Amino acid sequence: MQQIRATVATEFEQVNQLIVDQLHSDVPMVENVGHYIVDAGGKRLRPLLVLLSASALGQCGPAHIKFAAVIEFIHTATLLHDDVVDISNLRRGRPTANAQFGNAPSVLVGDFLYTRAFQLMVQLGDMGILAHMADTTNTIAEGEVLQLARAGQAGTTEAQYLDVISRKTAILFAAACHGAAALSGAEPGVCQAMHRFGLNLGIAFQMIDDVLDYEGDPATMGKNVGDDLTEGKTTLPLIHAMREGTAAEQALIRGAITAKSADKITQIIGAVQRCGSLAYTRAQAQQYHDQGLALLRQLPPSRWRDALERVTYLSVHRDH
Ligand code: IPE
Ligand code: IPE
Ligand code: MG
Ligand code: MG
Repeated sequence: MQQIRATVATEFEQVNQLIVDQLHSDVPMVENVGHYIVDAGGKRLRPLLVLLSASALGQCGPAHIKFAAVIEFIHTATLLHDDVVDISNLRRGRPTANAQFGNAPSVLVGDFLYTRAFQLMVQLGDMGILAHMADTTNTIAEGEVLQLARAGQAGTTEAQYLDVISRKTAILFAAACHGAAALSGAEPGVCQAMHRFGLNLGIAFQMIDDVLDYEGDPATMGKNVGDDLTEGKTTLPLIHAMREGTAAEQALIRGAITAKSADKITQIIGAVQRCGSLAYTRAQAQQYHDQGLALLRQLPPSRWRDALERVTYLSVHRDH
């Protein structure tokens, strides 16, 4: 990741500076909670995608820097809200903002970050970008609501799972890549290819997140394992294990999802591993990785295109 960031080092630094500057508020609680989550870092993968996409298309200017900060603000807002909804208590190696400050400050400061992102977008003065991002954030909200509505439903299908992760996660990756291309004045066909690249990458990324929820190391990931089970989320590893497992394994998993309980996590991890469900999910992620790479080949060869390929690879082969 370090080498990838080095290809856009100056711009990446500018984005990080802008993020900190734009956290400014006269209301101390906004700054406290905002800095709490932002200063913890995170991979900054989505702004990196903006900078690399722009550079691969020939030019990364001030508008791209601003747009990259917008994307990270939206991402951070969704994390603040997501951790309240998921009742998570570890994020980026620290207690979540909801664990530290409470649910109400997390929700309200999440709103601040969302709206700050839109203030920044207005400064870009590009109605196409504004329209695209309004749709994107609306879709993310729908994705999170859809997931909530399906919580505890063990009968969720693979297609329904794909729909949820496309909306809640992949659409923001798509918007990062599409927006970068649009701001570069790229042809509609190129913008569309970048959108589809981001979508494939985002789907692969979330599939691996869902694998890590069962086999990751909390110390490395900076978030807990087993949260998905506690939330009754029927993610791909469980869908596969309920399809391939013995009747007893199916009943075990179905019961845990319905009860939204991680009490039997050890047995469930055993079943998921015996069924090869984590390997299956990784293989699915690899297919989206491959489709993403095929789309990238439409770009002219450059070290930034290589870096985008590398980011895609690392999104599938990662431990945090
Ligand atoms: C976490 O995203 C939320 C998901 C979509 C899985 P990241 O894994 O990119 O989180 P940070 O920004 O690096 O903490
Ligand atoms: C993240 O989904 C999606 C959004 C933040 C919109 P998860 O709930 O799986 O993400 P983590 O595991 O909490 O980071
Ligand atoms: Mg969550
Ligand atoms: Mg997760």
